[in-house]
Amino acid sequence: MKLEHLKSLKKSELHAHLNGSISPKLLYELALSTQTLNAKELGLIQAPPSDWDSCFALFGLVYKVVRGPQILYRCTQAVIEKFLDDGVSHLELRTTLKEDLEHGISWDSYLDTILQATDDFLNSPQNGGQITVKWIISLDRSKGLAYVEKSMATILRHHKKSPYIVGTDFCGDPYIGHFKNFERTFQHARQEGLKTTVHFAEVPRFEDLWEILDFSPDRLGHACCLNKGLFEKILEKQIPVEICFTSNLLTGVVCAPEVHVVKAFYKARHPFVICTDDFGIFHSTINDEYRKVAAILNLQVAEVEDLAARSLAHTF
Ligand code: IMP
Ligand code: ZN
Repeated sequence: MKLEHLKSLKKSELHAHLNGSISPKLLYELALSTQTLNAKELGLIQAPPSDWDSCFALFGLVYKVVRGPQILYRCTQAVIEKFLDDGVSHLELRTTLKEDLEHGISWDSYLDTILQATDDFLNSPQNGGQITVKWIISLDRSKGLAYVEKSMATILRHHKKSPYIVGTDFCGDPYIGHFKNFERTFQHARQEGLKTTVHFAEVPRFEDLWEILDFSPDRLGHACCLNKGLFEKILEKQIPVEICFTSNLLTGVVCAPEVHVVKAFYKARHPFVICTDDFGIFHSTINDEYRKVAAILNLQVAEVEDLAARSLAHTF
């Protein structure tokens, strides 16, 4: 399928981390102008990761470059612009709260900056009403309950005054922590009107997956390392899945394209949405993801068009 045709399809992107979605070109330019990365690090950001650890090492380099409100503002707009160029008409970006007092960033000012950048972009002639953007705020499970509760209080304060914050995301190192410890906090956010998505079964650790399904998240991210019981429960509950195909292969959690869970969800006619996760880290695009999934599912053009159209039905 031709790139121009893929680009022309209106679609949603529902699983994209802000700092993982900065294009390698922009990241490189920023790294040079700020002189924040050494020669070896500059080399590393020019290639996709080869496994889980190298993926997370790359985030460490991104955080060295994206410092201070001006760069954050610029990166936020660049990420939105790239999705707009690729034909995304509804974008749900996500990010964890950041504090970097040395560079004038607190949790509040971090949120203020990305929300202002979003508002300015959406009201610019460049957008012309073509894309809508919403925010999902991620809570890192590895940082413990006190951090998650404090983050949630900040998120809820901003949610009351901003139309852009629509949901929360349970993310972070899936080998650390248990959803049960955080469930009350997510329940509270739900009562306050925020939707929930969860990084789910991204690795083969089954510790808290049944508890997460009992909570009935509004969407699940990844869901690529499932056993039969979990797969069937997701079908029964009809929870839409955010498929991050390249991410799962490059982080090594799925060993080959042919065994990716998207095939089983497609066969079962279960709702899923093709997403990038971190297109900057993985050197991919939303249209690359459509092309790869279309190839593995043997889709005809009309079926790809249908997949793109249906992605708009699962937004928050
Ligand atoms: P940020 O929250 O905007 O900084 O987005 C990057 C962060 O998202 C990373 O530091 C990770 O914590 C999280 N993240 C990105 N991709 C993944 C993933 O595939 N699994 C788990 N967490 C991820
Ligand atoms: Zn993710």
